Amino acid sequence: MKKTTILLLSIVIGLCAIGVSFALDVNVDINNIDEREKKQGKSIYRAECRQCHKADSEVGAPNLSPDSKVMAHWQEAFTDYSDLECAKEWEKKSEEDLRLIFLYLYSGASDSPTPAKCL
Ligand code: HEC
Repeated sequence: MKKTTILLLSIVIGLCAIGVSFALDVNVDINNIDEREKKQGKSIYRAECRQCHKADSEVGAPNLSPDSKVMAHWQEAFTDYSDLECAKEWEKKSEEDLRLIFLYLYSGASDSPTPAKCL
């Protein structure tokens, strides 16, 4: 095969891979999270997730705050959420919203510099 053909093929294959996978970058520097994005993530979380993930949830969801998990667990959940019982709720969100929710939860994880409760 010609070099250009190989190059083109790799680009096509690469684009397909990006298209089918959930490509949220969870390797974020914990000491360098944008405060504004964190706040945005918090309000999205409170509006879209918290109605189920609160104390005494009627749907049996655990009461989830940023400090309910360690950083690595949030990274895991946001790398592949397909096994979660509420994956359908996640699918309704844009990738940008999920990124902001991730920043909020991750930055307040129990082993982060600033553990946070969702009150
Ligand atoms: C309609 C209600 C509902 C909504 C909305 C919802 N969830 Fe869930 N979620 C659940 C239920 C029910 C479970 C399963 C609980 C279990 O397995 O015991 C769950 C499980 C989870 C888990 C795994 C449980 C754990 O402790 O590790 C995570 C993480 C999670 N949800 C995060 C989210 C996030 C982030 C959002 C917002 C994008 C969200 N959920 C929106 C109902 C919901």
